[in-house]
Amino acid sequence: MYSEKVMDHFKNPRNVGEIENASGVGTVGNAKCGDIMRIFLDIDDNGIIQDVKFKTFGCGAAVATSSMATELVKGKTIQEALQVTNKAVMEALDGLPPVKVHCSLLAEEAIHAALWDYAEKNGIQIEGLEKPKNDISEEEEEEDY
Ligand code: FES
Repeated sequence: MYSEKVMDHFKNPRNVGEIENASGVGTVGNAKCGDIMRIFLDIDDNGIIQDVKFKTFGCGAAVATSSMATELVKGKTIQEALQVTNKAVMEALDGLPPVKVHCSLLAEEAIHAALWDYAEKNGIQIEGLEKPKNDISEEEEEEDY
């Protein structure tokens, strides 16, 4: 049912963890299943993504797609990272079963949410970036108070 690449990234996920004082943090919830993904980006002064880490309360496909997505955006520019769509991630993983396609959206949206956070923190606008609709970062922050 799953490709070898999916199984590999599920069993040995890359870039799991957190980045302290990250340039941008994005947390999104999957509208379909309620799973949650958080991505941390470390972006340098030239707009290059130097490091990326993720954490998820999600299924195996969410873990595998996030792992692959972090590999695809690491070392890239912000504009290049925006091209890393869930389709691109699925292709890099040699596909996902149709019922698991929605899982791959988490990684794409979490990256967009983290870039949105980075842009807000720095008072800039990133061309082509829209606030992800499943961004739950603010809700979570409110709960902390
Ligand atoms: Fe929720 Fe896969 S079932 S992300």
